[in-house]
Amino acid sequence: MLKKCVQVLAVTGLIVASSSLCVNAAGADIQKQIDGIMGALPKFAVPMREVGDRFQNMYFAAEGGNWALASYMSKYMDKAMNPAKVTKPKEYPDWKAFYEGDFSPVNKAIAAEDMAAFTKAYTAVITSCNECHVAMGYGFIQLKKLAAPVDQGIEYKLSSKAADVPK
Ligand code: HEC
Repeated sequence: MLKKCVQVLAVTGLIVASSSLCVNAAGADIQKQIDGIMGALPKFAVPMREVGDRFQNMYFAAEGGNWALASYMSKYMDKAMNPAKVTKPKEYPDWKAFYEGDFSPVNKAIAAEDMAAFTKAYTAVITSCNECHVAMGYGFIQLKKLAAPVDQGIEYKLSSKAADVPK
C-alpha cells in the first residue's frame, strides 16, 4: 500500500512535500484493516458457547472412562478462549486465572482418572463459572448440568488414558 502510494506521488512530483502525509494515510489504512479483523474476531460470547459445550461433554467422557476425551475437552475448552487474548485483553486474565486456579482440581482429577474426585471438583467449579458471570454483569447466565452430552456424535463410553491426548 505504502509502495503504491509513493509510486503515485513520485509520478506527480509531489513526493517530498507529501511523503509524511502518505505514510499517515497508509498507517490509517492498516489501522482500519486491523480494526476490521479485530471486529470480526470473537470476544467472550462465541467462545463461551464452546466452553459451555465442552464443559458438559467432559463430564460424560469422565463418566464413560474416556479420560483422554475428558482431558481433550478441558484442553480445548481453555483454547477456545484464545481469541479473547486479543479482543478482550483486560478480561482474558480473569479466564486464565480461573482455568489455572479454580478449574485445576478438575484437571487434576482427570489426570488421576479419579471419578469421585472429578465429580466433586466438577460440581464445585460450576459455582465458580457462575460467579464470574455475575462479576462480569451476566448473572442471568446460570449454568446447569445436562443429563446428556451436548455433542451426541462422540463415543463417551470408551476406555482411554488421560495421557493419551497428543501434545
Ligand atoms: C472470566 C469470567 C468467566 C468465567 C470464568 C466463565 N465465564 Fe462463561 N461467560 C462469561 C461472560 C462474560 C459471558 C457472556 C458473554 C458475553 O456477552 O461477552 C459468558 C457466557 C457463557 C455462556 C453463554 C454463551 C452463549 O452466548 O450462549 C456459557 C454457556 C458459559 N459462559 C459457560 C461457562 C462455563 C461452563 C464456565 C466454567 C467452566 C464459564 N462460563 C466460566 C464469563 C466467564
